[in-house]
Amino acid sequence: MSTLAIKGGVPVRTQAFPTWPVWDETDEQALLTVLRSGVWGITDNPNSPLRQFEREFAGAQHARFGQAVFNGTMALQTALMAIGIDYGDEVIVPPYTFLATASACLMVGAVPVFVDVDPGTYNLDPARIEEAITERTRAIIPVHIGGCPADLDRILEIARRRNLAVIEDACQAHGAAWNGRRVGAIADLGCFSFQSSKNLNAGEGGMVLTDNQELADRCWSVHNCGRVREGAWYQHEVLGGNFRMTQWQAGILGAQMRNFEEHARRREENGLYLSERLAEIGGFEPQQRLPQVTQHGYHLFISRYQRAAFHDAPREVFLAALQAEGIPCSPGYKPLYAMNAIKDGIARLRRYVGTQGAAVSTPDCPAAERACHEEGVWFFQSMLLGTKKDMEDIAEAVWKVKHHIDEARP
Ligand SMILES: Cc1ncc(COP(=O)(O)O)c(C=O)c1O
Repeated sequence: MSTLAIKGGVPVRTQAFPTWPVWDETDEQALLTVLRSGVWGITDNPNSPLRQFEREFAGAQHARFGQAVFNGTMALQTALMAIGIDYGDEVIVPPYTFLATASACLMVGAVPVFVDVDPGTYNLDPARIEEAITERTRAIIPVHIGGCPADLDRILEIARRRNLAVIEDACQAHGAAWNGRRVGAIADLGCFSFQSSKNLNAGEGGMVLTDNQELADRCWSVHNCGRVREGAWYQHEVLGGNFRMTQWQAGILGAQMRNFEEHARRREENGLYLSERLAEIGGFEPQQRLPQVTQHGYHLFISRYQRAAFHDAPREVFLAALQAEGIPCSPGYKPLYAMNAIKDGIARLRRYVGTQGAAVSTPDCPAAERACHEEGVWFFQSMLLGTKKDMEDIAEAVWKVKHHIDEARP
């Protein structure tokens, strides 16, 4: 037990964690139903799998309206276009997130302005938002990172006072709740992804949620080539595109909804239990949950590796040793503002619309830098679908590596 697996010892775990996705004959049947209906794409039928899924998912997230689209990236673009984002507008985003949070802004001609995350929650830090607001700022996109809701109370207060729209990037936050209400339509709009890794998935897919009828209508138009609900097929009133979800995607997603609440409950229970076990070890602190977080989506279980508690061993030494113990894990993101794709997009916009002000290329984001380069360690959502014993194995492996970290050095 004492020799680390990376040095030839016996690993804590040899069996696999639960795999993803989970499917059976119900999903097969859902696909066959779509096949045999002969209707594989857009239809006005309110009982089509697509319209049913929109209603069911919106209901599960406590939203009035759901607009399905073909992925989460297009959900963000649809939401940005629905609020009327214009060329050269600025949108405040965190740098600790998937590319799409910022690239969606660039794709509609807006400049992503990076504001640091909170060092405990890894979510957008409300205390840093106002310094980034300029006369060009139009919106804020808080990301519920890993599925842990961002501080919506403080972000919405700032946004209302400064007349800004708020779009929740809830692409990782299926089932997550803030003050007892599921995320997605707490702000003006919220965006979800149903891509392969996500807690509800059809390989690809996305949805925009809102409680606002006017915004829902605009999302419908934007995602459907700029048509209007009562208009003719070749009548295009606003700029939009074909961002429509297929009935195939909706068929699978509708069928997958049968597991939604049970999976969300199990991830939450295991996530809380794992947090307790890890807190006992010390130096490997779970992402902080604010008291208003009444349910965590746990798309990712994120921990903060404190190098000082591990005899100053770099995070990569720890990760390699933990993996060898049979625990899949990842260091996660790099800061978005350092990505060539984003730098190039911002540089191009600067050339054409002369953006200035807060859209600096190297923003001051020390917490995101630490999360990306030194601290962040991820476990994946399907691991949390396992048993209590699986969580104990993760904690035991962390404990073992911590107490033998000197052996782990190359
Ligand atoms: C935070 C975040 N935003 C946006 C997206 C984009 O979603 P998709 O991959 O479905 O386009 C993802 C998913 O990868 C995500 O994790």
